[in-house]
Amino acid sequence: MTEPRQSKPERKANPRKRVIPQIRNPALELELIRGIEESTDASRKDAVRETNGEPIVRFAGKSNPYIDYHRNDLLHSLQHMRSEGHDEMTFILMTQIKELTFRAIHYELYNMQLRVRNDDVSGALALAPRIKRLFEFLVKTWDVLSTISTHGFNEFRDHLGISSGQQSYMYRHVEFILGNKSHRLAEAHANNPDVYPALQEAMNSPSLYDDVLRLLARRGIDVPKECLNRDWSEEYKPHPGVEKAWIAVHAEPSPDNDLYQLSETLIEIADLFSQYRWRHFVSVQRILGLKPGTGGSAGVGWLKHVVELRFFPELWSIRTYLGA
Ligand code: HEM
Repeated sequence: MTEPRQSKPERKANPRKRVIPQIRNPALELELIRGIEESTDASRKDAVRETNGEPIVRFAGKSNPYIDYHRNDLLHSLQHMRSEGHDEMTFILMTQIKELTFRAIHYELYNMQLRVRNDDVSGALALAPRIKRLFEFLVKTWDVLSTISTHGFNEFRDHLGISSGQQSYMYRHVEFILGNKSHRLAEAHANNPDVYPALQEAMNSPSLYDDVLRLLARRGIDVPKECLNRDWSEEYKPHPGVEKAWIAVHAEPSPDNDLYQLSETLIEIADLFSQYRWRHFVSVQRILGLKPGTGGSAGVGWLKHVVELRFFPELWSIRTYLGA
C-alpha cells in the first residue's frame, strides 16, 4: 500500500523580514543585475534525470548562471595593478575583501538595530554569532596583509596618491551604526551625491547603542532623559546615569536576563572592533614605520588615538565597579 503523499508544510511568513540598508544610489546597481531563470524542486529533479546526476556544464550565451547571480565577472575585473610590485595584488584583493566584510557586518548590525527598536531582543541576539564571526574574520585579514613587507609596499605606495582606507564610506557606516559619529571624516564623501545622503542619514539617526539605551528605558530601567532624545549626529558622551542603568542590568548576570545577554554581546562586538583597530595600527607601524600616511595624516601618530576609541563606553567603565 502506498503511503498518502505528504503535502509540504506551509512556510510561515517571517516576522523578522530583512531590511537592506541603502548605501549607494540604488539606480547605479540596476543596470548591473542580470536575469536568472528560477528553478524549483521539480525542475531540479528533472535536471538530475537528464544529466544522470552529473553537474550541468553547457550553457547558452556567453556566461553562466553562477556568474550572472554573483557577478563575479565584474568582481574579477576590479584588480587594476598600477605598479610592477608583486604585493600590490594582495593589497587590492584584501582591501576589496574587507570592504565587502564591512558591508556584511553593517547589514547584520542594521537589522540587529531594527530588532532592538521593535523590542525583539531574542531576534537581535540571534544575529550576534554571525556578526562576531565576521569581525573575527576581519581581524584575521591582518594576518595576510602583514605579510606585505616595507619593501613590497614601497613598490606600489606612490601609485596610491592620496588614497587611504580612511576614505571608505562603508567603513564609516560601520563606525556610525556603532556610535562613533565623526562629522569631519564623513566630509570625505560630501562631493559624492550617490553616497553622501545615506551617510548623512546614518549620521543623523540613533546608533545601535542609542537604540539599546531606549530599549532599557522601555523595559523600566532608569536611563537619563538626555540620552533618550538628543541630536543623534553629535558625538556620544558617556553618562554616569547610563553606568547606573547598566549596573542595574548586571545585577542579574544570568542566561535568562536578555538585557544582560545583549550587554555582553555588545561588549564582545566592541572588543573585536578594538582588536581590528589594534591589528591595523600594528600592521601599519610594521609596514610604514613613522612615515606619514597617504591620506594626509601623520600615520601611526594619528592612528594611535584611534586605537584608544571604545564603542559603548559605559559597558567598559562599569567593570571597575561590578562586584566591588
Ligand atoms: C596594508 C597597508 C596599510 C597601510 C600602510 C595603512 C595605513 C594607514 C594610515 C597611515 C592611516 C591613517 C590615515 C592616512 O593618513 O592615510 C590609515 C587609516 C585607515 N586605514 Fe589603513 N593602511 C593599510 C591597509 C588598510 C586596509 C587594507 C584597510 C581596509 C580596507 C584600511 C583601512 C583604513 C581605515 C578605515 C582607516 C581610517 C581609520 C579610522 O577612521 O579610524 N587600511 N591606514
